[in-house]
Amino acid sequence: MTPEGTVIREGNTEILVPLEHSVHGPGKKVGSVFFNEQMAFNRDVSVMLLRSLERDSVSVADAMCATGSRSVRIANEVPGSDVTANDISPSAMPYIQANIELNGLTNCRANCSNLHILFTEESFDYVDLDPFGSPMPFLQSAIRGTGKRGIMAITATDTAPLAGAHAPKCRRRYQCEPIRGFMCHEGGLRILMCNVARELAKFDRGMKPLLSFYADHYFRTYVQITEGAKAADDSLAQLGYMQYNMETMERSTSRFPDEEHRLGPFWLGPLHDAYTISRMSPEGMADERRCSKYLNLWRGELDDQVFVYDMSELSSHVKMSPPRIDDFVDFLNNHGRASKSHVSPTSFKTDIDLDDLQELYRQFSPDAQDGPNQ
Ligand SMILES: C[S@@+](CC[C@H](N)C(=O)[O-])C[C@H]1O[C@@H](n2cnc3c(N)ncnc32)[C@H](O)[C@@H]1O
Repeated sequence: MTPEGTVIREGNTEILVPLEHSVHGPGKKVGSVFFNEQMAFNRDVSVMLLRSLERDSVSVADAMCATGSRSVRIANEVPGSDVTANDISPSAMPYIQANIELNGLTNCRANCSNLHILFTEESFDYVDLDPFGSPMPFLQSAIRGTGKRGIMAITATDTAPLAGAHAPKCRRRYQCEPIRGFMCHEGGLRILMCNVARELAKFDRGMKPLLSFYADHYFRTYVQITEGAKAADDSLAQLGYMQYNMETMERSTSRFPDEEHRLGPFWLGPLHDAYTISRMSPEGMADERRCSKYLNLWRGELDDQVFVYDMSELSSHVKMSPPRIDDFVDFLNNHGRASKSHVSPTSFKTDIDLDDLQELYRQFSPDAQDGPNQ
């Protein structure tokens, strides 16, 4: 029997979703089966990334799929995909089945399993983890279920602990000391990635991040697994600690913790793989404009810099009004390297040292005699 609901269109796919569902915000179940409209962008990114691989075949486990929205989008929109739409909840099954039928899919099957059991029995080229809150209780099983050089896609919606608003919970879940203030979101993303690397290392596996981001209320990372003890050691070598002084704006990293560097550990390696993101296309996605905007931000981001600065941080520290961020980033590029950062519309990255950065800001602020608006 078809369950109650309403049919929406996302990308090129029709999806039956419960009448009562979330339209935005963090994952909370409002009806019997979870669906969040705002996560359309998150699903768009999965489709764009999987398409960019251009593989003849790719086996996919959407391990916590609820209505199967991501599963059917992948099965329908990624050529060569073969999707297992899994959820532990029996109430999710009629929605998944209805969505498979609605799109006439023969490459998608509904599966009602605890993912911890599924991943002891089968492995896949691509495994997706999309839990309520932290993915940590599921990570080890997901690693077992990801085949050689497979890809794991991991969402974390426990933004408050990861971004330092609830440090004790971050210590419990991630055994990391989070960062507060203007670097909190990139810090949270890097704590999540650090934990993926640490967990993989237990299996003599390493990781190459393909794409990692913060958007809306969640963190998301796509990593390609690299195999062997050396790969694991290489990934662990990318972890490190930070100090961040909000009074002075000073930031620095250290491979090992010390008196000053007590925050972390964080993943200090790249967030993205330039080749992968260069091949992703927004064409046909549910929100093409947003996909294009983020693709441009990710592609332009200075990915060898771990520190994020914010215009408000500079303006309150230097005590001069901020110029437009695009103009300021252009100006900085005449003196070093700089880019906008995807984590917030007012944040940027640069390799210019702090004293020079503050001096350049003083020169470029509209309050300066020869500033941009004078
Ligand atoms: C946030 S929802 C997933 C949303 C879905 N991916 C989407 O895009 O709409 C989390 C889902 O995980 C399922 N779940 C929780 N624990 C599980 C487990 N151990 N194995 C499989 N599914 C599980 C829940 O039943 C719930 O449907």
